[in-house]
Amino acid sequence: MSKVAIIGAGYVGLTTAACLASLGHDVTGADIDADRVARLNRGEIPILEDGLPELVADGIAGRRLRFVVGAVTAVGNADFVFLCVPTPQADDGSADLGFVEAAVREIAPKLRPGTVVINKSTVPVGTTRIVKRILSDAGATDRIYVASNPEFLREGVAVSDFLHPNRVVIGCEDPEAAVRVSDLYRNVDAPILVTDAASAEMIKYASNAFLATKISFINAIAGLCEAVDADVREVALGMGYDTRIGFEFLHPGPGYGGSCFPKDTAALLHTARSSGFDFSLLQGVIDVNRRQHERMVEKIRNLAGGDLDGATIAVWGLTFKAKTDDLRDSPALYITDHLMAEGAKVRAYEPAEEAAARAATMQPGLEIVSDAYEAVAGASVLGVLTEWDEFRWVDFERVKAGMTAPNVVDTRNLLDPTALRRRGFTYVGVGR
Ligand code: NAD
Ligand code: UGA
Repeated sequence: MSKVAIIGAGYVGLTTAACLASLGHDVTGADIDADRVARLNRGEIPILEDGLPELVADGIAGRRLRFVVGAVTAVGNADFVFLCVPTPQADDGSADLGFVEAAVREIAPKLRPGTVVINKSTVPVGTTRIVKRILSDAGATDRIYVASNPEFLREGVAVSDFLHPNRVVIGCEDPEAAVRVSDLYRNVDAPILVTDAASAEMIKYASNAFLATKISFINAIAGLCEAVDADVREVALGMGYDTRIGFEFLHPGPGYGGSCFPKDTAALLHTARSSGFDFSLLQGVIDVNRRQHERMVEKIRNLAGGDLDGATIAVWGLTFKAKTDDLRDSPALYITDHLMAEGAKVRAYEPAEEAAARAATMQPGLEIVSDAYEAVAGASVLGVLTEWDEFRWVDFERVKAGMTAPNVVDTRNLLDPTALRRRGFTYVGVGR
């Protein structure tokens, strides 16, 4: 059993804390948000993650997990310190390391010899070196090790991804420290790749950028399918049977969003530019994605008769994908923002209640209602913006009765076009 401190109790930090506690380690999670810490110690989970409430409750009850305010409070006795703080996008596209650097400066004087500081935040190549330098500048003992251990979990299935990962990547120049970090994962059944820090940092960005590339590729194929009257769903199926291509991340949609793909592709492009490397492929991926958001607005405008001014538009789903409450860089919010900018009145239903409340404060003018039928009342177009399963099981006769015209833009290809058309709807999907 190792003593582990986790700095940052967000999607990654909280999942890491709860999962490492469930693997038998003694874990202290720290956050600067005192309210969040108080809620966590009461067993209240501030984010929507399957299985997380149970793991946190087990950890607290078994005295293997606790939460404290401030990084300094957590690290004094730690053998390992995980940095799980935000690395948001800076104005120039690069990853802003401000939170990482501040956390390292804060904890440096408190670390005891032998501690391994592990970067789990997504950080550009070279950050492990920066962390080492800050530690020594801030007076930490020279027997502190630094490792990179990027995280590959997806929101919504974070616990399952953490406990059953495809791989664990550890980047560390010191072999003994690398073995100690890999030992934290001894009860996780996954290949462990130990490599140098720069490669570990690059693996994270390359993985996210590759997945984003698959999505932009299929979205571009979807656009082409619309032009030549093919069905992208059949195309993706036919491609996916080739195991070299695979079925995953070939679902066309409104473009990727979320707290990571947009910022991580921008950061990797920034790294390429500042290294003098022409990564036009990645620029293309980002451009296709932005264009895909715009195409969804165009589809809704077209069904509204070519002019959104004064139109009432209903939307279902505001989060960046289903099964999460995360609104960061959500394509849905891009779409509602642009609909309203063109004069539409937008009424939204979002199943994750807390996310719905936050969306209302982020976009004044966006009307939030508490069910799918209320959203469509008086609307001339319904936009399905995330793929929450409950949208499939709505009574579409009732939807039709509530709308001024039965028009649906299904940006996720979630619904059955044949069934809807039979009911008299005009249905527009993506690439079909
Ligand atoms: P988040 O915003 O949900 O959580 C970060 C937390 O860190 C916040 O609660 C914040 O209050 C806290 N914090 C900031 N500075 C602190 C400090 N000095 N001391 C203590 N707490 C502090 O962020 P996240 O989504 O968990 O992402 C964290 C990092 O992990 C990012 O680099 C992100 O790119 C990466 N990542 C995220 C995901 C994901 O799905 N969200 C997956 C893989 C990697
Ligand atoms: C993504 C990666 O999948 C994780 O491996 C990674 O750890 C994480 O980013 C991160 O670095 O933060 P996440 O952002 O939770 O995870 O969400 P995904 O399920 O990957 O979806 C990202 C976006 O792509 C969403 O907007 C989703 O709707 C979209 N998407 C995904 C598609 O449009 N089509 C697909 O086929 C798959």
